[in-house]
Amino acid sequence: MEQVEEIIEKFVKDAQEPKVTELFNTQAKGKRVRAKLALIIANKEKASRKLAAIIETIHFASLLHDDVIDEADTRRGKASVNAIEGSKVAVMVGDIFYSKAFYELVSLGEEVAQIVSDAVFKLSRGEMQDVYLGNDFNQNPQLYEEMIYLKTASLIEATCEAAAVLAGKERVKYALYGKNLGLAFQIIDDVLDITQPSEVLGKPAFHDFKEGKTTLPYIYLFEALDSEKKEYLQSLFKKDLSLKEKEWIKSNMQSTGALEKTLQKAHKLANEASALVATEDDLLKIIDKVINRNF
Ligand code: FPP
Ligand code: MG
Repeated sequence: MEQVEEIIEKFVKDAQEPKVTELFNTQAKGKRVRAKLALIIANKEKASRKLAAIIETIHFASLLHDDVIDEADTRRGKASVNAIEGSKVAVMVGDIFYSKAFYELVSLGEEVAQIVSDAVFKLSRGEMQDVYLGNDFNQNPQLYEEMIYLKTASLIEATCEAAAVLAGKERVKYALYGKNLGLAFQIIDDVLDITQPSEVLGKPAFHDFKEGKTTLPYIYLFEALDSEKKEYLQSLFKKDLSLKEKEWIKSNMQSTGALEKTLQKAHKLANEASALVATEDDLLKIIDKVINRNF
């Protein structure tokens, strides 16, 4: 992983812009789940480290843009780039990293370049769907799942598939492992927004619903409520919630089993991912970390 960090730092240095380096250094590095996956799946290949650095750089760029779109002030417990330097700079820094990653990607060969660039095409479409789904209270779990596949799971799927190509392993199997893991990852993220405090999350808690994101626990809660309570839940959509309103949502998610049903969905996806890599301890460990985490 140290070598991956060195490659990422080289990408930053190549930009030859002190401001870019300065802003990059203000940000936390994150869990590096994608990089770990690339290194595990294509471990013996030297190119795996470059792939890992490219994927993490794309992920970083997408988060810079996402924080502009979401008007987020914090990211991974630190002030976001848009909060520090404004949205224009955050978009430009995102573009710098995004294009650098694509330049470097070409050197990994056409097959890998197609897999990764197609995932970025998907994640941009996923972000667009996320924004438009946020216009109204979404009651449709299929729309949610399609959106989180595009927004989050596609890049994780591509990481695993591309690493498998580099290592000459079965690409379909690792792609599916990555897809299931990615879906579970985002569902757990959406649960943590409700169950964890801001200090643990490194970003505001209970924020998705206010942002217009009717995540899976909300969809399941809505399904389970009677018509009077359905109306009440809808009246809270996009509102700055009081402590009492948050407590109402949380306790109803517990009593109706909506939270449990959401967790079961994540566990089902995790089990499907596990079954594909049953003999690969390191990949099983990643699933465990994604499922059993607090932030
Ligand atoms: C975080 O989701 C956002 C993503 C996983 C994808 C964002 C993608 C783009 C902005 C498209 C542009 C892409 C590039 C490469 C320039 P979230 O808002 O649910 O999570 P959060 O709570 O961590 O912000
Ligand atoms: Mg966001």
